[in-house]
Amino acid sequence: MFEGKIKIKGAFRMKIAVIGTGYVGLIQSVGLSKLGFDCFGIDIDENKIKMLNAGKSPIWEDKLEEILKKHNGKNLKFTTNFGVIEECDAVFICVGTPQSSDGTADLKYIFAAAEGVKPYLKKNAVVVIKSTVPVGTNRKVSKILEGCNCDVVSNPEFLKEGSAIDDFFNTDRVVLGFEDNTKHEARDSMMNIYSYFYEKKTKFVITDWESAELIKYASNSFLAVKISFVNEIARLCDTVGADIKDVTKGMGYDRRIGEHFLNAGLGYGGSCFPKDVNALVKQFEENKLEAKIIASADEVNLGLIDNFFDRILKKLKNPEGKNIALFGVAFKPNTDDLRESRAVELINKLLKKKANVSCFDYVDGALKNAEELLGNKIKICKTVKETAKEADVIIIATEYSQFNDEDWGAIAERVNTKLIFDGRNILDKNKVVKYGFEYFGIGR
Ligand code: UGA
Repeated sequence: MFEGKIKIKGAFRMKIAVIGTGYVGLIQSVGLSKLGFDCFGIDIDENKIKMLNAGKSPIWEDKLEEILKKHNGKNLKFTTNFGVIEECDAVFICVGTPQSSDGTADLKYIFAAAEGVKPYLKKNAVVVIKSTVPVGTNRKVSKILEGCNCDVVSNPEFLKEGSAIDDFFNTDRVVLGFEDNTKHEARDSMMNIYSYFYEKKTKFVITDWESAELIKYASNSFLAVKISFVNEIARLCDTVGADIKDVTKGMGYDRRIGEHFLNAGLGYGGSCFPKDVNALVKQFEENKLEAKIIASADEVNLGLIDNFFDRILKKLKNPEGKNIALFGVAFKPNTDDLRESRAVELINKLLKKKANVSCFDYVDGALKNAEELLGNKIKICKTVKETAKEADVIIIATEYSQFNDEDWGAIAERVNTKLIFDGRNILDKNKVVKYGFEYFGIGR
């Protein structure tokens, strides 16, 4: 991570407003404050603002609260008052673009934010859209802001939950979408904001609005396709007796393919891939085109849980009254986020079959959220050993490598039945088999 203060050579210390204090907005305001800018985090949710002003983050991310506490009340302030925008040189819009019932991205928060900032924009202010927005949205926002003497810039975000702070400071690229007649003041402002990255030779892509908007959707969808592709190969591995771990290792060493995002398992969840894949398919449809590969990624992904669950049912026969130990509840490691979590889907399926579910996650906030979401229907445990007590099956649902380092000898002594379904291919199969477990992974 970046340590110390940025030296903005000959540049001015800008005041920046960030609308939205969710994953994208909060990381942006906290990150920019660490880089030395004066930031206002703005949100309409008074409770969130109160929490943030007290130095507490509403979401859990490694290093987030530490930086928040350091800058809070100094060069980082949180408010519900849009009036502070009058002082700001740049306004980042980082509000949600959730999925509508028809699969398109719902832009009501984007347009509301644009209307909200409009009365306060100072001359030559730059309005930066960081939220994931379909092609054409920057143009629509620019129409809303007509007459404001400001410029609109597309600047999609690429950070991942679970490593958001590190991703902010070590991003692979900065994408900036300008319109042809964007004033040089706006271009200068953006280069000023991102000068730290420019100096550390991060790659910049300077392009038009439409391309910038599409870079974000194409990147997320490509990664989703990569995951679904590997999961499809894993199905064949299961049938023909190949090991997907070795297959992907052999594929990943080819630099043209790359070794990342080749983990077979229960597929992708979270607040981005499922929604962005659907929204991109819809953008094809709106343009009278068909997105065959991208739509298939979603289809393959949706089928993974059913297939995994059927395999568990085959083994357990009737899960009613059986004790299920679920390792991992969040949609991915190191986050408290349960949105579109495969683990939660599994829990719901198991509860429907009247199984007793105990679950564990390394992030306390994830367990707290599970408790809020599922109430007293499940048992929340503080350790894997407690979760495994009298279990009839252990299911690994979140990709934590730490699960492999747990004391499997001690776990073996606590369970009713030595049976593991590893939905993330995390465990060293030979190790757990040595302790007498029957092991089922994905494509192994
Ligand atoms: C994703 C992108 O990776 C970010 O670049 C992007 O900025 C973000 O969406 C966004 O649009 O805001 P995120 O959803 O936080 O980030 O998390 P990922 O690490 O991408 O994981 C997504 C899902 O894919 C998880 O459920 C994970 O378990 C799954 N996954 C990932 C696999 O099943 N296999 C893999 O090999 C990798």
